[in-house]
Amino acid sequence: MTFLFNSDARRGAVFAEAFAGELPDVPFTIDAATVDPDAVRYLISWTVPDNLARYRNLEILFSIGAGVDQFRLDAVPQNVKVVRMIEEGIARMMQEYVTLAVLALHRNLPAYLAQQRAGQWNDIAQLQARSRRVGVLGLGQLGQAVLDRLKPFGFPLAGWSRSPRRIEGVTCNHGELGLEQMLAASDILVCLLPLTEETRGFLNADLFARLPKGAALVHTGRGPQLDHEALVAALDSGHLSSAMIDVTDPEPLSAGHPFWSHPKIILTPHVASVTQPATAARAVIDNIRRHRAGLDPIGLVDRSRGY
Ligand code: NDP
Ligand code: OXD
Repeated sequence: MTFLFNSDARRGAVFAEAFAGELPDVPFTIDAATVDPDAVRYLISWTVPDNLARYRNLEILFSIGAGVDQFRLDAVPQNVKVVRMIEEGIARMMQEYVTLAVLALHRNLPAYLAQQRAGQWNDIAQLQARSRRVGVLGLGQLGQAVLDRLKPFGFPLAGWSRSPRRIEGVTCNHGELGLEQMLAASDILVCLLPLTEETRGFLNADLFARLPKGAALVHTGRGPQLDHEALVAALDSGHLSSAMIDVTDPEPLSAGHPFWSHPKIILTPHVASVTQPATAARAVIDNIRRHRAGLDPIGLVDRSRGY
């Protein structure tokens, strides 16, 4: 029962060491060329390999990332469990990025950067945190981690998910009515939704119009959720004040795309968070132990929902 690691060698070396220490009875390899395909029970990858069918005894396909939209789920046999990455390192990095973004937009950083480039020295009226409402789309492992990290700053916090949730110190919303209420009360909106057919194109002109005038956007979900033209129009009209964008479609953006130089946008190249190999290896090993004990792995993907 071999574990095949189909990702970068640097992270593979960390996984190899963890497997040797913690699961010595599961041979670990990063060498797909020499592995006996029938021995492969577990595979970790960013996408579904084209030759997946050769692993006839595969039991679990792990995603090396938190998202699984890049997996062609219909290419994975129904008996194979698909598991997304839930590990503390990726959550910690997302906490850092979203905190950075929320504070940057709260403290008018895009406008101050534009002033610096123009050689201007003017102060901008500053709201207190208690008057800046932050709403998070998606209350999964990352949305919840981010809200937890934002609590000490004193922003009124809200979140939105598909199913009802209860989180201390956070106004939780769900469903269409819950979305309406949260959008109307979000001065900074953070997107941490998975990409599914329901969330493709979600951040569009209609949604922006439902935010209060002057609201700002932090987008760390997936590129195809954002309508680029609608964002630029909302920023140019002044309805939205600013945005910090980590994911786009395509990645990277083409030369000359308005996001590169828009004065109200801070753009980063899909770096909000990255799977951390030491903590990820521990999470994967725990999941193999759960699976062998007859339990569902943590992060099991529900194929009907697509996440
Ligand atoms: P989870 O699956 O843990 O959480 C997803 C959340 O979104 C859940 O609360 C879920 O609701 C909610 N949701 C999904 N679909 C809908 C919908 N149609 N309507 C309302 N709510 C919905 O995901 P993670 O928190 O682990 O990750 C979120 C996403 O972050 C990833 O899919 C990935 O795209 C992105 N990501 C980006 C990174 C970056 O560097 N920019 C790094 C890592 C991840 P419910 O609770 O009811 O199920
Ligand atoms: C992920 C990502 O999904 O890095 O983990 O985007």
